[in-house]
Amino acid sequence: MSRTMQGWILLTGVAVILFTILINAHSTGPQVAKPALPEVPEWPWEAPDTAAIPQTETGKLIRYGRDLIVKTAHYLGPQGIVQPISNGMNCQNCHLDAGTRPWGNNYGAVATTYPRYRDRSGMVESVEKRINDCLQRSLNGKALDSNSRELKAMVAYIKWVGSEVQANKKPLGVGISNLPYLDRPADSTQGAFVYAQYCQRCHGNDGQGLSDSLQHAGYLYPPLWGAHSYNTGAGLYRLSRLAGYVRDNMPYDEAFHCRPVLTDEEAWDVAAYINARARPAKPFPKDWPDISTKPVDHPFGPFSDTFSTQQHKFGPFKPIETQKKKAKT
Ligand code: HEC
Ligand code: HEC
Repeated sequence: MSRTMQGWILLTGVAVILFTILINAHSTGPQVAKPALPEVPEWPWEAPDTAAIPQTETGKLIRYGRDLIVKTAHYLGPQGIVQPISNGMNCQNCHLDAGTRPWGNNYGAVATTYPRYRDRSGMVESVEKRINDCLQRSLNGKALDSNSRELKAMVAYIKWVGSEVQANKKPLGVGISNLPYLDRPADSTQGAFVYAQYCQRCHGNDGQGLSDSLQHAGYLYPPLWGAHSYNTGAGLYRLSRLAGYVRDNMPYDEAFHCRPVLTDEEAWDVAAYINARARPAKPFPKDWPDISTKPVDHPFGPFSDTFSTQQHKFGPFKPIETQKKKAKT
């Protein structure tokens, strides 16, 4: 028998003995609960690879749609080559990475959830209607004709982005985070300090942003208030949407959902500072036909509760929520 052979037999023997001891220890000892498995982090939703967009007519439309979302200003901005119908911002300014970034206000769930009923309009909304909502509010502009190639292209792209999402399953990282409410009103004076420390270097000392002089369209850093920003009917004009978006994504070069830079409190305060500044006012009198469905932070009356406009704008929101819940039961 060679030496290596002997060695192997010895090793196998030791292994068998050790194994038997272990098994016995397990079966004779007290029945303890299995230790909990380490928690496997759930992966956020991931968009399909753009390289997988087919080389077909439909693929062409999808790619055009993506381009419209990335470079909206080039096509639809004040000097837009298709139609000058929006304020110079790009969809991507708010829907990061062309609407694919987890927690970056992505389009992951649009394909599976639209058409859907929305309280804001009181009707079933198509993807087309939802896109036009953002054009009229977030981009402070005009709606696209539903037969236009541009609207069809954006719809095609957004549906493609969500094409691998299972119906009835909300993917992780979709939409904007809901931050816990503060027990006090959000404080725009505190928010001014947060702005100066964390935001001003990019968005400018007067929130005006910085034009993209290389692309000759859109912004390197988009405006946060003033004439070229989103209007008062936009989603970000609701404090909770702005605070959640900012906490997870800003400062742009440093913050992520799992590693935010601002505390929740700082996010609420800087949101208050931004939404207290002047911006285009655009009334949408047909919004919230049933006023009892207005979200707590929708800052325009009439309200179905007794709280002031000021409180609906800056909080504290908890008391409003409590009263709303009571009214329902
Ligand atoms: C100023 C920021 C901003 C810009 C610019 C913007 N959006 Fe939005 N968009 C939002 C916010 C905020 C929401 C609502 C998110 C929420 O409430 O969770 C939203 C929602 C949407 C939704 C619905 C998402 C869902 O899951 O229900 C679609 C679709 C959409 N936007 C498309 C667009 C398109 C296309 C453009 C460009 C033409 C655009 N948006 C530009 C801020 C913006
Ligand atoms: C390093 C530069 C940088 C800093 C610092 C920064 N941002 Fe941004 N911000 C950006 C860029 C770039 C975008 C647009 C992203 C895109 O188009 O992909 C953006 C987009 C936004 C948007 C959505 C678009 C709009 O203009 O309404 C908001 C809101 C925002 N930032 C708020 C903030 C706040 C609040 C802070 C400070 C806490 C901040 N940002 C800090 C670069 C920055």
